[in-house]
Amino acid sequence: MKALCWYGTRDVRVEEVPDPKILAVDDIIIKTSTTAICGSDLHLYHGTVPMMEQGDILGHEFMGTIVEKGPDVKDLKVGDRVIIPFAISCGHCFFCKREHYSCCDNTNPKSYFLKKMNGDATAGIFGYSHLMGGYAGGQAEYVRVPYANVGPARVTSELDDDDLAMLTDAFPTGYMAAENCSIQPGDTVAVWGCGPIGQFAIRSAYLLGAHEVIAIDVVPGRLKLAEQAGATIVNASNEDEIVDRLKQMTGGMGPDACIDAVGYEAESHGAVGLYDTVKQTLMMTTDSAQILRQVILSCRKAGVVSLPGVYVGMADKVPMGALMNKALTIKTGQTHIAKYMRTGLQLLKDGKIKPSEIISHRLSINDAANGYKIFDENKNEVTKIVLKC
Ligand SMILES: NC(=O)c1ccc[n+]([C@@H]2O[C@H](COP(=O)([O-])OP(=O)(O)OC[C@H]3O[C@@H](n4cnc5c(N)ncnc54)[C@H](O)[C@@H]3O)[C@@H](O)[C@H]2O)c1
Ligand SMILES: [Zn+2]
Ligand SMILES: [Zn+2]
Repeated sequence: MKALCWYGTRDVRVEEVPDPKILAVDDIIIKTSTTAICGSDLHLYHGTVPMMEQGDILGHEFMGTIVEKGPDVKDLKVGDRVIIPFAISCGHCFFCKREHYSCCDNTNPKSYFLKKMNGDATAGIFGYSHLMGGYAGGQAEYVRVPYANVGPARVTSELDDDDLAMLTDAFPTGYMAAENCSIQPGDTVAVWGCGPIGQFAIRSAYLLGAHEVIAIDVVPGRLKLAEQAGATIVNASNEDEIVDRLKQMTGGMGPDACIDAVGYEAESHGAVGLYDTVKQTLMMTTDSAQILRQVILSCRKAGVVSLPGVYVGMADKVPMGALMNKALTIKTGQTHIAKYMRTGLQLLKDGKIKPSEIISHRLSINDAANGYKIFDENKNEVTKIVLKC
């Protein structure tokens, strides 16, 4: 089969590789119809995620049709069209029982590495390094999906692939980030980053009752898409003092909730940004804290900071004093996708969302390597790429 394989920093290739096989009694194999490239895949592309191996198949946003199943797969059958959550969950551990699916204790066979680093490991994630389990990803013609009785959801033919593929990560991640803000009527929510996650966080914040959403990015094309969703926009590349600007826009108080949909690879601005870049380049720190500082300092007292943006290791100069003295609540995490994918599916069926609206490019899997390049280099025109198999 064809698959998009990782070879090093900014080196991904479409290659012929062996087809996957059923390995456990509750596995399914799907023939992929649509898969997407995620901002999280860019972290792999930039070579900033440890424990990648040459030839690893990437991709964690995918859907398709079941072509084979293990004997213990109960409700799904060969021929079913399914969407697959990006994180793998066992369904019966302490965390899965509480619907904290991304914290599953049983699906990351290499969890000892994360336990050393973070004190605990997350669930396994498709196509996302050996740190996250070493599972082959979904940017491939066929994918093995383990624990198939828990994650995959059957979908009917009237729903469109492009809408459905957005439910395997991007929409639910934006939605959980907004839900984590405990939005009250009249609230103002500020969202840093207008990539796919930010776009869906903006739309979800309105769905959940926000009065106003302020969208912050450095890319005009993406800010425009945020404006079309009703957000008030701020171009951070024109702003030295983003915190002051947000205070001015909110009567001096600051936004009620602040969402960081940028993460540890934030584009640097100003002297503090330069400091982060130098420390990251010299490998003295793994994560830029640029956005973390801005969200903590901007947020109103007793407000909520929601972090869907990915952080991988240590961040320097996080304003702990502000966090504590302002009585802020922080909510974060890999998305509990087995739950929120189903929330998204219901919203789609009810006609409340149209997630495909953010897709800018539809390419063949054969052009996947070029897809990575243009998504990385041309954020102004490229918002979200889906690959057709
Ligand atoms: N928590 C989860 O489960 C989960 C799931 C998917 C993605 N993510 C993470 O969410 C983040 C966003 O993902 P995406 O797909 O939207 O990525 P993306 O790269 O397409 O978008 C990031 C956006 O941030 C903007 N940005 C960069 N520096 C900035 C700055 N200094 N100020 C304001 N904006 C800035 C970029 O211009 C870009 O539009 C990534 O870190 C990704 O890894 C998390
Ligand atoms: Zn993703
Ligand atoms: Zn579990």
